[in-house]
Amino acid sequence: MRLLVTGPGRLGRPLLAELHRRGITGAVLHRSAPASLPPGWRSVRADVTRPESLAGVCAECDQVLHLAAVTHSNRSNRYAEVNALGTRNLVAEARRAGVQRFTLVSTRAIDPAGGAYSQSKIQAEEIVRDSGLAWNILRPAEVYGMVDGTGGEGISALIERCRLGRWVPIAGDGSPKLAPVYLDDVIDGMCRVVAAPGHGGVHVLAGPEEMSYVQLIRRLAAYFDTRPRTIGVPAGMLALAARVLALLPLDKPPLYADQVARLFSPKSHDTKSAFLAFGFTARPLEQGLNAIFHPRQQALA
Ligand SMILES: NC(=O)c1ccc[n+]([C@@H]2O[C@H](COP(=O)([O-])OP(=O)(O)OC[C@H]3O[C@@H](n4cnc5c(N)ncnc54)[C@H](OP(=O)(O)O)[C@@H]3O)[C@@H](O)[C@H]2O)c1
Repeated sequence: MRLLVTGPGRLGRPLLAELHRRGITGAVLHRSAPASLPPGWRSVRADVTRPESLAGVCAECDQVLHLAAVTHSNRSNRYAEVNALGTRNLVAEARRAGVQRFTLVSTRAIDPAGGAYSQSKIQAEEIVRDSGLAWNILRPAEVYGMVDGTGGEGISALIERCRLGRWVPIAGDGSPKLAPVYLDDVIDGMCRVVAAPGHGGVHVLAGPEEMSYVQLIRRLAAYFDTRPRTIGVPAGMLALAARVLALLPLDKPPLYADQVARLFSPKSHDTKSAFLAFGFTARPLEQGLNAIFHPRQQALA
């Protein structure tokens, strides 16, 4: 099998290392500076929003694993441009090149009420389903364990704040449901799906337990033996703050316009199809935290 992987970002970079470890090679589509790639991987520079840049990117590849996406933006049309139209452009190129299977990395936040990001992923899923190619769709939950040297964002930032015992904002009544999933388990799922014979499935890649935001903070505080102070912020006020922040010239605002809707939108936690189709399993939260914070002890266990 030769694979085209798009978007070597927070998930894509460790994914490439794991694919290489499993003897899978292919090409990596990147938009900005060439990523350092594992041996045997070809680098192709392209922008999924520019169809002309995609010519030939699938050469010699029989599968596409499409991760490239905009995940946070205050320009809501950017989600549609990259995530929906970009997927359409890539699907067209994959068809032209005779690719056999296309796997889309979508999201568990796939409800229309989830804002512009969710809506763009709904469109991307429809494009892939209607592509005429053999396809799979993966819907990861909230992934933690990414290493970016800053404590991360989203759930990784929450883990870091609880580890340090800092104050933690709670959106609304803290009831939104999360199913934190450890990075290595999501990557294992992605490696498995491309190697599995089956296709035509929509698979949630979530952690084994769904918990409310408040329950997650309690679990993290117990794990780290800290007492993070919580500050409740009404959801409406958070949404307003996000709209104000969007007006400021910030490179990486702490909150994006659609993030509140995304957090509160309904999500599926049913990982049965991923387990049945390619044996996906994910470890409980505390085991994932052990892998991050006590890797040596875990290796010896
Ligand atoms: N991380 C999570 O918790 C999570 C949860 C559910 C689903 N997902 C999905 O998993 C996938 C990967 O997420 P991630 O966290 O690794 O995101 P990420 O770190 O933001 O990486 C996204 C990648 O897409 C590339 N990209 C963006 N616009 C592009 C364009 N126009 N043409 C080509 N490449 C483009 C980015 O390149 P640049 O660096 O040049 O911008 C980057 O390499 C996404 O599809 C996301 O929706 C992630």
